[in-house]
Amino acid sequence: MTEPLLRIENLILRFPDPQREGGVLTALDGVSLDVAPGEILGLVGESGSGKTTLGKTALRLYEPEAGRILLHGRDIAHLSEASLRPHRRAMQMVFQDPLSSFNPRQSIATAIATPLLLHRLCPKAEVPARVLAILEEVGLPAAFAPRYPHQMSGGQLQRAAIGRALALSPELIVADEAVSKLDVSVRAQILNLLRDVQRRANLAMIFITHDLHVARFLCHRVAVMHFGKLLEIGPTEQVFGHPRHDYTKALIGTLRRPAKEGGDPP
Ligand SMILES: Nc1ncnc2c1ncn2[C@@H]1O[C@H](COP(=O)(O)OP(=O)(O)OP(=O)(O)O)[C@@H](O)[C@H]1O
Ligand SMILES: [Mg+2]
Repeated sequence: MTEPLLRIENLILRFPDPQREGGVLTALDGVSLDVAPGEILGLVGESGSGKTTLGKTALRLYEPEAGRILLHGRDIAHLSEASLRPHRRAMQMVFQDPLSSFNPRQSIATAIATPLLLHRLCPKAEVPARVLAILEEVGLPAAFAPRYPHQMSGGQLQRAAIGRALALSPELIVADEAVSKLDVSVRAQILNLLRDVQRRANLAMIFITHDLHVARFLCHRVAVMHFGKLLEIGPTEQVFGHPRHDYTKALIGTLRRPAKEGGDPP
């Protein structure tokens, strides 16, 4: 068994409850899971079940109240921002809305170049060539380099967002509803791109989605969240074919079309 890249143990995270003065809302209620190098783990569950909170906490965009986040065996759950810095590069996030994750006044080339320079990943003179190579990797011709976010479609921007994350050679990407805002016609292209880059770089990915067809197409294992808890986790075909919990059965009850590994994306 390969050592996990990421191991999460008994994570607890609460937010203040806007409905009740002084009340708290338990967004993560003792969540534990592993992600292996090169694995795509799907995170499914209804709205408010804690998927985004879990993804952000795994990347230490939130600090958990309790529990451990082991990255290569090192607990990063309570590291200071300064101590986290060397780990940040290894963990990237791709969001639902690519437009809001880009600075409107920055060209795509600058948006990709900035983290390269910040993390000193590439000598300054080589940055323009590196940016073009990254664009090519995500299927964007060089002509896109000088463009601004508003001059690009949602699908093109999501390609650029994936490129910006890849530029840092991460080991883990959390993709949060990364295709759900896109037109149906480009969703499959972006899903294929995610799968290709994941395979090429042996990236681990936590893929958060409402769409069970997408989860079944893309993910090696699937975890089902419900009210801040992990209800079940297992190989994709096992969870879809033989769900253990009634909740999972109800959730996948709407799924009819079988999807096979290597098949066409939904
Ligand atoms: N920054 C925050 N401040 C306060 N409460 C929050 C915050 N983020 C999430 N919550 C609450 O935590 C719970 C889990 O939210 P979360 O966004 O993680 O769910 P989700 O599964 O990603 O939902 P969706 O599918 O709608 O994106 C919800 O009750 C939500 O209202
Ligand atoms: Mg969410």
